[in-house]
Amino acid sequence: MALKATQSEKTMYERIPSVIVGSPSEGAIAVAHEIADLIKQRQSEGRNAVLGLATGSSPVRVYDELIRMHRQEGLSFKNVVTFNLDEYYPMPPDSVHSYVNFMHEQLFRHVDIPAENIHIPDGTLDQSDVFEFCANYERKIEEAGGLDIQILGIGRTGHIGFNEPGSIRDSITRMVTLDIITRRDASATFFGLNNVPRRAITMGVSTILRARRILLMAWGDSKAPIIQKTIEGPVNDQIPATFLQEHKNTLFILDDGAASHLTRNRLPWLVGSHEWDDFNTRKAVVWLCQKTGKAVLKLTDEDYNENGLGELVTEHGPAYNINIKIFNQLQHTITGWPGGKPNADDSNRPERQSPFPKRVIIFSPHPDDDVISMGGTFIRLVDQSHEVHVAYQTSGNIAVFDEDALRFADFISDYAEIFDVSDESLLNLYNTFKKAAEAKAEAGVDAPEIRAMKGLIRRGEAKAGCRSVGIPDEQIHFLNMPFYETGKVKKDPVGPADIKIVEDIIRQIKPHQIYAAGDLADPHGTHKVCLEAIFAAVQNLKNEDFMKDCWVWLYRGAWHEWDIEEIEMAVPISPEELIRKRTAIFKHQSQKDNVMFQGTDKREFWERAEDRNRNTARLYDELGLAEYEAMEAFVRWHF
Ligand code: F6R
Repeated sequence: MALKATQSEKTMYERIPSVIVGSPSEGAIAVAHEIADLIKQRQSEGRNAVLGLATGSSPVRVYDELIRMHRQEGLSFKNVVTFNLDEYYPMPPDSVHSYVNFMHEQLFRHVDIPAENIHIPDGTLDQSDVFEFCANYERKIEEAGGLDIQILGIGRTGHIGFNEPGSIRDSITRMVTLDIITRRDASATFFGLNNVPRRAITMGVSTILRARRILLMAWGDSKAPIIQKTIEGPVNDQIPATFLQEHKNTLFILDDGAASHLTRNRLPWLVGSHEWDDFNTRKAVVWLCQKTGKAVLKLTDEDYNENGLGELVTEHGPAYNINIKIFNQLQHTITGWPGGKPNADDSNRPERQSPFPKRVIIFSPHPDDDVISMGGTFIRLVDQSHEVHVAYQTSGNIAVFDEDALRFADFISDYAEIFDVSDESLLNLYNTFKKAAEAKAEAGVDAPEIRAMKGLIRRGEAKAGCRSVGIPDEQIHFLNMPFYETGKVKKDPVGPADIKIVEDIIRQIKPHQIYAAGDLADPHGTHKVCLEAIFAAVQNLKNEDFMKDCWVWLYRGAWHEWDIEEIEMAVPISPEELIRKRTAIFKHQSQKDNVMFQGTDKREFWERAEDRNRNTARLYDELGLAEYEAMEAFVRWHF
C-alpha cells in the first residue's frame, strides 16, 4: 500500500492530510516501504538517505519491517544516515532505558548501517557542554543535506520529539524539561515515576519542520483526543504538534482508534450526506440530546434541523417517529438479568432466557479486571444462580512493588521461624529476596522467584475477590498466558501457546456466555493481546456444537467506556451492589492507594469504576430513561 492521504468533503475540518489504515501493522509496513524506496532511489543516485528517527511504541513495527527487508530482500543501509529525535537526560547509553539502547535493539544491530552514520543526542554530557552539542547536532543535520524523512509519534501532551507544551515554532535542538503527563506515561517502563528522568535533549520544532517529508504515526484510542486537536484545532504552542499544519509535506498515518475523534468519524453528519442506519441514527440522536440538553422524547423537528440533522429528519422523520424508535432501542438494552431472565419473554431483552442457569466464563486480562470492570454484573450472575467461572489471563506480576514481595517473603521467613519449619530456603527467603531486589537495578528485570512471588500475591487477591462475590475456588482459573511473562513492560505478541490455553478452558467449560475485556485503550497493550487470543480461540472453536449456544459480550475496563450508542446490554447496579463491587475491588490490595501503573488518572481503580458506572447511569437518565445508581455496559461480539 502506498501512503496517500484521503481528501474529500469529509475532511473539511482537517488541516493536516492523513490516511486511516486497517491496522497499525499495515500502516507501519507502508511507512517502512516509503523509507525503503527512498533508500533505494538514493543508492541508484550514489547518494545518502538521511532519516530522522523516533523511539517509543509507535514506530516499532516500522523497524521490524525494515529489518525483514534487510534480511529477506537485501535492503542495505550502507547509505543511510540517521538522526534520532531525542534522548533522556541524564542517561547512560548502556541503560535499558536509553534511546541509544532502544535504537540498537529495535533496528541498528540488525542491519548494516555504518556506526559513524548514527546520531543520537548524548545523555552523558556535562550540563555545560549541552548547548554546544545541540548546536553541533543541528549543524550535522545540515551538513548531511537535511532530513529527507522524519518519522514521528505523538505524545498525549501533543509533543513531537520531546517538544512539550510551550515549545515555540522556532525552537531548535536543546535541553528540555519533561511534562508530568509524559513522565507518567513513561513511568511503567521505568518501574515508577520517581525513576523517570525529568529532562531530555530533543530536536526542536523548527528542526523537525525542516525535514522534507514528515510521517507521524498514531495508534489506538488513547491518542484520539490529541490527534483531533492536532489536525483540526488552531496552531498553538500548547500543542506543539499543531505546528505540523504549517509543513507542506506531512502525512499522519492513523488506525481507526486514533482517528475516532476526527469530525468525519465522530459527527459524520456534519461533513456531508450520510447513511442513516440504526447505529448512525442512534449516535446522532444521543449526540443531539447531549447538545440540546433534552431527553430523547422531547426532541423536535427544529432541534434536528438546527443542528445539522435536517437530512435525518427529512428522510426518516418526523422527529416523533425517530424519537420513539431510538427510545425503544435504548430501553431494550437495559436488563437486570445479564444471564437472561428465566421464563420471561425475551424478544426485547439483550440475552436469551434459556438455557437457565447458564455456564459463564469471565475472562479477566489482569487479576482485577473482572471486578473493576464488571463486578456488578459478576455479582448479579452469581446471585441469579449461574455457574460463573473466572479465567485470569495473565499473572499481573509486574504491577506489584518490590516492597510488597519483600513483605510476603518476610512473612514466610517469620512463619518458618516461629512454627519451626526447618527449611533453610524459607527461613532465608527475606534475605534472598532483598539481595535479588537490589540486583534488579542492573538487570532491569526481576529475578524469576520474585516475579513468581508477585504473581502469587495477585493470585491471592483475585481469589479473595472471587470469594467475596461468592464463587467456589474450583471456578477460579489462572491461565498465566506466556506472552506476558517477559518480566518487562513490553510483552511478546500473542502466540499459539497463548491461544491454546484459552481454547482449552473454553472447551473444558463449554460456556453459554463469555465475557471478555474489549478495553483497547489499556496503555500497555495487555488487554489487546488478551482479546486477540480470545478472538482467535473462538474462531478456532466456532464449529464445535457447544459454541452454537455461546454468546460473547465485551466489557470495558479501568481505562474507558463504550459510547452510549454502542451499548447493547446495560446492567443496572443498585447502591448495595455498588458497595459489594467496591468490597471485591478492595481485595486487590497491591493495586490500591499507590499503584505501579497509575496512568495519568489520579483516581484509584475503584473510584474510576464507580465514576464510570455512575456516569453511564446519568447519561441514560438524561436521555429520559430510568434513573439508576450506576450501570455496567456491554457490546456483543458476533463471531
Ligand atoms: C520518541 C519521541 C516521542 C514519542 C511519543 C509517542 O523518540 O520523541 O515524541 O514519539 O511520546 O510515544 P509512543 O509511540 O510510545 O506512544
